[in-house]
Amino acid sequence: MMQKKITLEYEYFTDINCLPATLQQLVKAARNNTLQAYAPYSHFKVGAAVLLDNGIIINGNNQENASYPQGMCAERVAMFQASALYPDNAMIAIAICGNPEGFALTHPLSPCGGCRQVMLEYEKKSGQNMKVILCTMQDEYIVFDNAGMLLPFNFSKDDLLTK
Ligand code: THU
Repeated sequence: MMQKKITLEYEYFTDINCLPATLQQLVKAARNNTLQAYAPYSHFKVGAAVLLDNGIIINGNNQENASYPQGMCAERVAMFQASALYPDNAMIAIAICGNPEGFALTHPLSPCGGCRQVMLEYEKKSGQNMKVILCTMQDEYIVFDNAGMLLPFNFSKDDLLTK
């Protein structure tokens, strides 16, 4: 028997100036996108913004539905839009921000498992890292170098290849 260990390295900071200018812009877009989220049931507004390798930013926010399971997370709205409009461009970063009505988050919002799987899909598709930036509406940030880090022991298209 072998004991194995996975370690997770990430950056944590509380000053937006720790980010390069393009990623500062991405964070601001994600924060701004929370404002137009359609979240009448949970009142939990989420914004996301995807940076493409051509410099274009694609926006998204959560979209809820009276039939609850039919809603969609902000991250997936942004990634699906990015893939629909620019199928040949890599998504090199995604910024995510939670902005619930009535209270402030005490820590940067972490993406749900379904969104992690979708991030992994596009990261594998392009072969380029997708940086994941989690942030609050205030000045707090967590940055992961790539989406795969958020989903250890994942299932991906590599597993579907005939060996
Ligand atoms: N939500 C997101 O948009 N992204 C996440 O990563 C977590 C949850 C949304 C889904 C739902 O509209 C609301 O937040 C409450 O779960």
